[in-house]
Amino acid sequence: MQVLDGKALSVKIKDKAKEDIKVLKSKGITPGLAVVIIGDDPASHTYVKMKEKACEDIGIYSIVHKMPDDISEEKIIETIEMMNGNSNIDGILIQLPLPKHIDTDRVLQTVSAQKDVDGFHPFNVGKLILGLDTFIPCTPLGVMKLLEEYDIDPKGLDACVVGASNIVGKPMMNLLLNAFATVDICHIYTKDLKSHTEKADLLIVGVGKPNLITEDMVKEGAIVIDIGINRLQSGKLVGDVAYESVSSKCDFITPVPGGVGPMTIAMLLENTIKSAWSRLS
Ligand code: GUN
Repeated sequence: MQVLDGKALSVKIKDKAKEDIKVLKSKGITPGLAVVIIGDDPASHTYVKMKEKACEDIGIYSIVHKMPDDISEEKIIETIEMMNGNSNIDGILIQLPLPKHIDTDRVLQTVSAQKDVDGFHPFNVGKLILGLDTFIPCTPLGVMKLLEEYDIDPKGLDACVVGASNIVGKPMMNLLLNAFATVDICHIYTKDLKSHTEKADLLIVGVGKPNLITEDMVKEGAIVIDIGINRLQSGKLVGDVAYESVSSKCDFITPVPGGVGPMTIAMLLENTIKSAWSRLS
């Protein structure tokens, strides 16, 4: 069994990003990322701090707009429109989830498709489905990069994606399909989860339920990618896969922490740099 080390790969990617930023700066361009965070969900604030720090470490200019839970939708839209028109900003990220009174679809559709470093705008979602060059959501893109780093080609593999969110599961499914895997996608209404997971050569899980995937649900020799991040009452961070038992059965597995998480942030940096390059074209 081999551990897919997302932490190590993210360090390599950040080193390359620093080199790119040097070149961009020599051309008078400092990549800029704007983040909008609404409310006081502690997990969201932790993620945003990690994104801010990663930007600072490699030389991306970042600005965080913190807004209270009861902010109006109009005020959010106004802030996004201001950033759409700010030529120092290459990427705009709206930290999800948004408070219940806000129409998330409307907010995400306000972000300029050219600055949509999360890849959540319907225009970019459409391009991803068609296999066209676009901004790809950071977590599934990070998974694809991690597979590539370990010479794992999804072509012809039976893949199973557990979790069908717009942020992770659906773009993951499309990326795997575009890479010629045969993709099975499971969700909360799936009748018999095990009957799908046990057939998978490549099992990708992003649900947010500790121990959802146990050893009996995994094929011998499978590649297992755990996107879940769950904090137990003890404070321990775990994924959705019962790591100890599953790792003894599969050929490759991502740890939590240190697997997909650091790759998500690395891909956000890459997407922001990709957007900054387009200032030259
Ligand atoms: N909330 C949980 N994951 C994500 C993500 O990848 N991007 C954004 N914007 N919000 C999130």
